[in-house]
Amino acid sequence: MEMIGPSLRLRYATTADVPALLALGSDPEVTRFFSWGPYASSAEPASYVSRLAGERDRGERLDFLIVGRDGAAIGVTGLSELSHRDRRAVVGTWLGRARWGTGANAETKALIGRLAFDRLGLERLGAYADVENDRSQAALERLGFVHEGILRRWHRHGERVRDVVVYSWLREEWQRSPLANVPVTASGEPPPAFLCATAAPRR
Ligand SMILES: CC(C)(COP(=O)(O)OP(=O)(O)OC[C@H]1O[C@@H](n2cnc3c(N)ncnc32)[C@H](O)[C@@H]1OP(=O)(O)O)[C@@H](O)C(=O)NCCC(=O)NCCS
Repeated sequence: MEMIGPSLRLRYATTADVPALLALGSDPEVTRFFSWGPYASSAEPASYVSRLAGERDRGERLDFLIVGRDGAAIGVTGLSELSHRDRRAVVGTWLGRARWGTGANAETKALIGRLAFDRLGLERLGAYADVENDRSQAALERLGFVHEGILRRWHRHGERVRDVVVYSWLREEWQRSPLANVPVTASGEPPPAFLCATAAPRR
């Protein structure tokens, strides 16, 4: 499926996107707070792309390439840690350095919010930010994500163990947010493994 907004589109990555992913994800500033990267060779994004379809089918991860009007990839966003029973998942986003501070993150969250709350029937989107990732924390807070606390020793990056700040965005907070008014269209159907409530209210 695809989510289409005013200037950005979320679509599944394919092997044709490996060079673009390599270019974006080989920047150490971009991957500084991640367990992976910076990418050193195309084998790494190729391995990532090759896992995506299976992860979608199994309900493990629903990742999208973020592409601009010109069709060029600018980053990745997606859902993980899905719980059907609790109708929640976690959103994560990374953008190529050139698109930081451009509003692309806000539009990306508008697209993901529509998908998560409107199409999939989720009630809660969580988000994590490394305790030292001040930019990510500020970005989440200005979009309305609520700071909940610190998860101690939550992520392992090689031998480094990291504490993370946990945020949440609830369905009604999204509905009240200006991001819910961003015009978004969906093309195609979500992967069945991610559908939590088929009776989710349609806007
Ligand atoms: C996290 C990310 C998606 C946010 O997108 P973005 O376009 O950079 O975010 P925005 O510019 O909309 O918001 C960042 C905010 O942090 C502020 N900021 C920037 N540097 C900061 C710093 N060192 N400390 C505190 N705030 C900072 C900015 O001023 C901005 O706030 P404002 O718009 O109110 O002025 C992007 O920076 C990114 O891809 N980073 C690398 C990957 C990553 O860390 N992803 C998050 C994983 S949790």
